[in-house]
Amino acid sequence: MDRTRDTEDTEETPTATATADALRERALATLLTARDRTTLLTSCVEGPDLTGQVSPLMSPLVWDLAHIGNQEEQWLLRAVGGQEAIRPEIDSLYDAFEHPRSARPSLPLLAPDEARRYAADVRGRALDVLERTAFDGTRLTEAGFAFGMIAQHEQQHDETMLITHQLRRGPQALTAPDPEPVPLYTGPSEVLVPGGPFTMGTGTEPWALDNERPAHRREVAPYFIDTVPVTNGAYRAFIDDGGYDDPRWWTPDGWDHIRRHSVTAPQFWRRDGGQWLRRRFGVTEAVPADEPVLHVCWYEADAYARWAGRRLPTEAEWEKAARYDPVTGGTRRYPWGDTDPGPEHANLGQRHLRPAPAGSYPAGESPLGVRQLIGDVWEWTSSDFAPYPGFRAFPYREYSEVFFGPDYKVLRGGSFAVDAVACRGTFRNWDYPIRRQIFSGFRTARSAEVG
Ligand code: AVJ
Ligand code: FE
Repeated sequence: MDRTRDTEDTEETPTATATADALRERALATLLTARDRTTLLTSCVEGPDLTGQVSPLMSPLVWDLAHIGNQEEQWLLRAVGGQEAIRPEIDSLYDAFEHPRSARPSLPLLAPDEARRYAADVRGRALDVLERTAFDGTRLTEAGFAFGMIAQHEQQHDETMLITHQLRRGPQALTAPDPEPVPLYTGPSEVLVPGGPFTMGTGTEPWALDNERPAHRREVAPYFIDTVPVTNGAYRAFIDDGGYDDPRWWTPDGWDHIRRHSVTAPQFWRRDGGQWLRRRFGVTEAVPADEPVLHVCWYEADAYARWAGRRLPTEAEWEKAARYDPVTGGTRRYPWGDTDPGPEHANLGQRHLRPAPAGSYPAGESPLGVRQLIGDVWEWTSSDFAPYPGFRAFPYREYSEVFFGPDYKVLRGGSFAVDAVACRGTFRNWDYPIRRQIFSGFRTARSAEVG
């Protein structure tokens, strides 16, 4: 990166230039980090494991790879760089709305080597555009937004590709060290979050996506929320108590779904005599009791909460627990403050291929003592995916707007599989209430008695 830009011939103050240089460095670093991960996920398997489909819910890995390149071409080369399409004929193949995932393996996709060359070609040109682009011209380039958006997009697909690896049958292809063991968590099981307004969403986070905006005040009644995510051990008690056989705990839709599809435990679990085993990235192992439960759908999370005499938090309750500082009344970027996530704060970025035990990362806790809000497992909330008041689609309707409505439930906080660039106190994810191949877990809440 050229750090010798002359400040004399621009209107920028030296401080503004320093900020722009820092953002440019950050954009470059996040794009490179994402590509390293993409390369690993698409080079540790070959042949049909790369070009075929492990589940109708997932794309072939080679589709994700070229789609990452195509999205980067559309936004960084064409929209920001003003360039012509490199291969206009492939746009429709990699348009997620034209072809559902189940149809993608039968498309005339680029072969693995072609897809790699295409993505690398786009990347080379994108880095040239990055060097030449001022970070102040339009909303698309202000603070390097388009570059941050594309790095986030690639990391989101890196999480999607890790899900594909989890679903794939066959021997282990990926390894990572386990999280540090921690002493069993013995802190309070829940904390009281005071009622009253707080600021939800953001107007200042430079790379926040459209659905996180704008910042707005939200009134929340007092409630208690779990200090740690619900663990496998706690979830097992629900199973052992016959939770999956008792319609009292389930919504009518949830009950209908689990009966029809014979859902009797989290995905990838298998009962073996008196114990539970799970399959995790090609390895079968005992289900660890103290780890946050993973691969449950919204219906299961909702039913567990009802069985426990509790409920899922609303999305606003989740965000208030994660960002509200009761001392100042202000809203933080992250539970621990305003600094970017470090390895001491949260389990992110596929550094580990599993959640860390409940109670890990004390340095990442919120002012009220709530842990692991960021990282480990995506947390289901009770809320439908809806626009904030004053929402404006940017830069394209198909990122968020077309998904608003009652079909999708919001998940918050990110998993071990998502990179820090695509995970914030304000970041919103969404999925159908039946989905559980995603890295989803939850924590519970209850309303505080009033009066
Ligand atoms: C925000 C995770 C729901 O994977 O469908 C990727 C992210 N959008 N490419 C998805 C996304 C376009 C999106 N989620
Ligand atoms: Fe995409």
